[in-house]
Amino acid sequence: MSVVISPSILNCDFGHLADELSKIAHADYAHVDIMDNHFVPNLALGLPIVEAAVAYSQIPVDAHLMIEEPDRWAPVYAELGCASVSFHAEAVQAPVRLARELHAMGTRASLALRPATPIEPYLDILAEFDQILIMTVEPGFGGQSFLDSMLPKIARTRDAVRRSGLDVWIQIDGGVSRSTIERAAEAGANNFVAGSAVFKSEDASAEVDLLRRLAESHMH
Ligand code: DX5
Ligand code: ZN
Repeated sequence: MSVVISPSILNCDFGHLADELSKIAHADYAHVDIMDNHFVPNLALGLPIVEAAVAYSQIPVDAHLMIEEPDRWAPVYAELGCASVSFHAEAVQAPVRLARELHAMGTRASLALRPATPIEPYLDILAEFDQILIMTVEPGFGGQSFLDSMLPKIARTRDAVRRSGLDVWIQIDGGVSRSTIERAAEAGANNFVAGSAVFKSEDASAEVDLLRRLAESHMH
């Protein structure tokens, strides 16, 4: 399983979105956070910005929906051109139906879990997803500290994926930086979302390379 680096643009300079996106052109996905002030206590991004990200990004866009009613909205983000769409287990009504709908549109389907949501109830439907997103902070804001308490869930998910023989990616999101990425990679994550670590650094492009090297040397 290869390392995937997905910088989150939540804390980028939106006055220069195209320039900010070009700094991460050699990452794998541009991670875009959509928040509705109901599922999470913050309001951020939406269709026009995601449409601009799809138009200006040189790499595929990975949408993370932190919203109510993902059953209704996820297909809209797929239609806009997002290559991957994550919807939350706590908000979705029919995860299997929604994943199949996304697949029918040629979009990767990813199931996201808040820190207190276990993976176990979803193991029987693992084959429906391309990715499990394990939140390593409470969703809603960038710049929070990585929750080490999520490492066992990452490891249990990796074990289940291995046992299943499926090619399901494990993405983590929240507090990922040069000081936390190694233990997350060791636990079994392969797709790393990093917001402030990349966009608040001196050199966003060099930070992407460093994160990739650190993850690669700790994955097994
Ligand atoms: C938080 C978002 C993240 C956020 C991560 O709820 O889902 O994608 O941008 O930011 P950092 O990397 O700063 O924790
Ligand atoms: Zn996110």
